[in-house]
Amino acid sequence: VRSWTEVGSLNEALKDQYVLVRGRAQTIRPVSKNMAFVVVREKGFTLQCVVTATPDVVSRLMVKFVSGVNRESIVDVEGIVSVPKDPITGATQQVEIQVRKFYCVNKAVPNLPINIEDAARSDIEFEKAKQAGEQAVQVHQDTRLDNRVIDIRTPANQGIFRIQCQVGTVFRQFFLSEGFVEIHTPKLIAGSSEGGASVFKLDYKGQPACLAQSPQLHKQMAICGDFGRVFEIGPVFRAENSFTHRHLCEFTGLDVEMEIKNHYFEVMDIVDRLFVAMFDSLTKNCVKELEAVSRQYPFEPLKYLRKTLRLTFEEGVQMLKDAGVEVDPLGDLNTESERKLGKLVLEKYGTEFYILHRYPLAVRPFYTMPCYDNPAYSNSFDVFIRGEEIISGAQRVHVPELLAERAQACGIDVNTISTYIDSFRYGAPPHGGFGVGLERVVMLFCGLNNIRKTSLFPRDPNRIAP
Ligand code: 4AD
Repeated sequence: VRSWTEVGSLNEALKDQYVLVRGRAQTIRPVSKNMAFVVVREKGFTLQCVVTATPDVVSRLMVKFVSGVNRESIVDVEGIVSVPKDPITGATQQVEIQVRKFYCVNKAVPNLPINIEDAARSDIEFEKAKQAGEQAVQVHQDTRLDNRVIDIRTPANQGIFRIQCQVGTVFRQFFLSEGFVEIHTPKLIAGSSEGGASVFKLDYKGQPACLAQSPQLHKQMAICGDFGRVFEIGPVFRAENSFTHRHLCEFTGLDVEMEIKNHYFEVMDIVDRLFVAMFDSLTKNCVKELEAVSRQYPFEPLKYLRKTLRLTFEEGVQMLKDAGVEVDPLGDLNTESERKLGKLVLEKYGTEFYILHRYPLAVRPFYTMPCYDNPAYSNSFDVFIRGEEIISGAQRVHVPELLAERAQACGIDVNTISTYIDSFRYGAPPHGGFGVGLERVVMLFCGLNNIRKTSLFPRDPNRIAP
């Protein structure tokens, strides 16, 4: 068994050693009949390989073979690590391999639908390349998504999905360490879980059914089943007709539900600690990934406080009013006013991450607990990054009669959720929770402009493939 070295782990300490690597031939540049350069890429890291015809070591035939390898083919390269020096400054450069053996393990087709170097350019790099008279093609979003398997090979995309992995990992570790139980709720359900029109309907062996718009009802039922504190990471389906930068038809929901002893603030306390830990972890553990993303899509690091700012909805409305933006004090905020409030909060409090709570009851789902002191408001909250929503959460109604009444008032057919409402008849503790959109967290943490960039294979109203 031969031992392999990862491209990303090659460094000067390995100088003069004989190594074996596997990667993709990103670019192949024949210089003459005697020499060719190949850039090999593995997991977003690149390595220059130099093939030089040398008697009894490397034949001209091999140089010819290497020169004819198609881009993006999988190749094995054996050779000696060298550390070249800049001929003028004498400074050491990135390590290279002086190739001894070169195998094509599996070849790619000669004409790829997109070129990785084009796909990896920032807008500024694209302009520069064009001005320098280089052949540079700007790869548009639909072309990227149509050819996603190639597109996700760029360093920025490799970074994005490794950051996404870290968000999920921190989420899971945080809740396990807090004594929460990870659950898996059904995605095929009888009635809609959030109400509204954005539901995928289907036929379930002759019965009408739908794809779960959230784990909402079943995570609450798990609380009625004595788990105390639960969380779930799973798919969420929304038949959104809105074609926006932040809505998908399928996304990954990070969901939490927990018993409340005194106040819905206990749920917001968890949000606070979870996200401070998450942002700290991303900043510390995803340095290379964040760099790769910002090289292609430049962004400023997120500004957040050690103790997350909390504003009431009324305070938010007042801040907007003071800035000359009139909003309905008992209505919802639209995207524009949310963004505006985000800017005002940043100016006043120096944070791009905050919680807005005590929303008007009328704009929240039927299962939301009205405020005890004023039923026009509710024990609920939304959480924002850079002026856009990433979470909605609340204390839930745990009294079955009130729950049925609220469902009816919101136009929901109580018969379709009767097993849910019945769960509360057998004794239900006060509880609350929240749902986070994974793709939105990554999009906004990285200051990206479209949620399709943070979904591996996005589903939107126009796209169900690849
Ligand atoms: O605000 P939503 O609809 O809330 C719920 O699902 C409730 N049941 C609360 C809960 O406890 N789960 O969705 C929660 C989050 C949003 O804040 C947003 O981040 C994300 O899910 N989200 C979407 N992400 C991508 N595409 C969509 N169409 C989304 N709709 C919501």
